[in-house]
Amino acid sequence: MTGKQFGAEWTKEAVLKSALLFLLQFVIFLGIAFLVLFGGRFSQVMQIMKEQGANYLYAVVCILMLFVIAYCYFYFENREILLSGKNIALIFTIIDLHLILSCIIGYKFNIYARPVALVALLVFVLIGRRDAIFMNILCALVVFIIDTFAVPEVTAKECYSSLIISFSAGMFAIFSSNRSKSRLSVITIGILIVIPMDLIIFLLEISKLLDASEVVAGQSAWQFILTQMGYGLFGGVTSAIFFLFILPVFEFMFNCLTAFRLRELTSSDAKILKMLKEKAPGTYNHSMMVAQLAESSAAAIGENVDYARAAALYHDAGKLHNPEYFTENQGDYNLHDELTPELSADIIRSHTKEGYRLIRNHRLPQFLADIAVEHHGTLPIRYFYAKALKMTDGELNIEDFSYMGPKPQSKLAAIIMICDASEAAVRAVGARTPEQTEQAIRSVIEERMDLEQFAECDITMADLTKIRLALVNTLTGVYHHRIQYPSIKYRRTENGTKGENE
Ligand SMILES: [Fe+2]
Ligand SMILES: [Fe+2]
Repeated sequence: MTGKQFGAEWTKEAVLKSALLFLLQFVIFLGIAFLVLFGGRFSQVMQIMKEQGANYLYAVVCILMLFVIAYCYFYFENREILLSGKNIALIFTIIDLHLILSCIIGYKFNIYARPVALVALLVFVLIGRRDAIFMNILCALVVFIIDTFAVPEVTAKECYSSLIISFSAGMFAIFSSNRSKSRLSVITIGILIVIPMDLIIFLLEISKLLDASEVVAGQSAWQFILTQMGYGLFGGVTSAIFFLFILPVFEFMFNCLTAFRLRELTSSDAKILKMLKEKAPGTYNHSMMVAQLAESSAAAIGENVDYARAAALYHDAGKLHNPEYFTENQGDYNLHDELTPELSADIIRSHTKEGYRLIRNHRLPQFLADIAVEHHGTLPIRYFYAKALKMTDGELNIEDFSYMGPKPQSKLAAIIMICDASEAAVRAVGARTPEQTEQAIRSVIEERMDLEQFAECDITMADLTKIRLALVNTLTGVYHHRIQYPSIKYRRTENGTKGENE
């Protein structure tokens, strides 16, 4: 989906705007249908309309009714779609694409060769399963109406067959998409859906075996059925191939964050993560650790675990700007020893803004940039504030030593803020018993509450408690208490190696 419409509200104006956009998209759909059906024979349009006018009018009214039902469906089931013009455009681009491919392949090639599962696959990945089921039914019906009332050459039997195949192939594609982990695995779905498609084609055409007169000249009944099944195979496989080519275009055009894209963004091959690994290995390791903590925290309060992992991996991307100024990437020499506390604080706090800029410049999802800039809120940078206090007698402005915000605006940003600080705090604790770990995390959360860092997001006390417990659990697992191994001194003798306690 193209992202939650934070701040967009369902007002009368929003209803009117979305209804007008639906109407506009309906007109565009009719224009495309006209071009696809009458392209190349415009001179005969008037004649065709005289003969078939009633049928075309009936088809237009039926499709209009389906689009009204679609509007009502989104109104009651997924209003977020209607709140954004971009989302409405996405829905209709998929419908228009389905119309174009179905008409061109169906009428110029074969009705069974249509990429019938394409809509289901695209909507499933770009929006969600429930909407994919609805859109699959809607598109199957739209093409059925066009086949039945707008194209006299298509027989009634072909119309019904195409409807059943479209519906079934789409549904099978949706049910088998749950397990697809990568883009290429969709090819397997394309092949899998051929089984029900070809079974339906076989059953629909089996009458040809009994009635030889129906068989097309030059082909035996079996040859004909196998050819039709071959078209079914083509339709299934091309659904997956079209999907593979079209999905990246949709992801780019509508800035959609799909599960595939999220997985690619969090793999170690992702560009920014690779840069972090090479130029700021300390920050990279810290981010990996924060990702582990963020995943368990998100799971504890019912937030999206994949989003939490991605946000954690990118939260300190801004440190790529000056990696050597951050403790985790420093060796024995500390560059801050040469700088005033004010300058040091400036360099440290700039990593949130730099992170935002870097993530947006790479056209990565907005929520990653938002969390990168919010993950320290307006907290003071204690180390340099304390250093400056030691060096001055007068009053210091704490804001000169604080991050510039904004404070976390979402639960996910709050999770990253807590996990980021907890990781550092627990690492700083010498012996890591569960009690010490719990105390360290409790202090982190309480300090942030005292400084009102959660004032602008909807995280609750219950969420904070669940996060604390999840973090204690994960961190005690990571830094588990180790047995103190005794030190042994080895010595080589004539009878072999012997050891004794040091
Ligand atoms: Fe940071
Ligand atoms: Fe961090």
